[in-house]
Amino acid sequence: MKVFMESCRLCHSLKYYRDRAHPDGIKPLMDEAGLKEGFGVVPPDLSLITAARGRGTEGARYIYRLLTTYYEEDGLTKNRAFAEWTGGDGTIAMPPPLPEDGLESKAQDVAAFLYYVADPKEAERERLGVYVLVYTVVMTILLYLVYRRVWKGGKKG
Ligand code: HEC
Repeated sequence: MKVFMESCRLCHSLKYYRDRAHPDGIKPLMDEAGLKEGFGVVPPDLSLITAARGRGTEGARYIYRLLTTYYEEDGLTKNRAFAEWTGGDGTIAMPPPLPEDGLESKAQDVAAFLYYVADPKEAERERLGVYVLVYTVVMTILLYLVYRRVWKGGKKG
């Protein structure tokens, strides 16, 4: 969320995002006409972008790669992930939005955030899945310890 607000919100909206501070979604700081003029295209709304770029966590991984695979060629800004997705030469109208410093962790952060925005329920289910796993492991250890105690006790008596 923080990375989005600092580095993406200038150009991108999150129409379907909701929280207490943003009951009607998030609008870009620049207006649409200005964006169109500046970049030639209106940057897409990112509410559902991770769902639109792959199944499961694929979309989030795409965002991460998009943010981390910029390069310059013949004076043009290009992007490897964008080239793969569009089947084009990778020329992209979005300038690299994140600074080199801390790039990976910021890209990861915003990819996870956008994944959550696109499908809060799925993200919830995944978190639940981890809890269930941890719970199972803890229970197994506890049961094993109880079993050992009982077994030892039995031997003595
Ligand atoms: C300076 C304006 C600007 C900023 C800041 C910006 N973007 Fe973009 N973004 C664009 C434009 C313009 C496009 C359209 C690119 C194109 O179609 O060539 C775009 C496209 C995208 C796309 C769609 C790519 C695709 O597969 O079609 C994603 C995802 C995206 N931006 C994510 C982000 C994220 C995440 C951030 C913040 C870390 C961000 N953008 C910051 C201007 C911006």
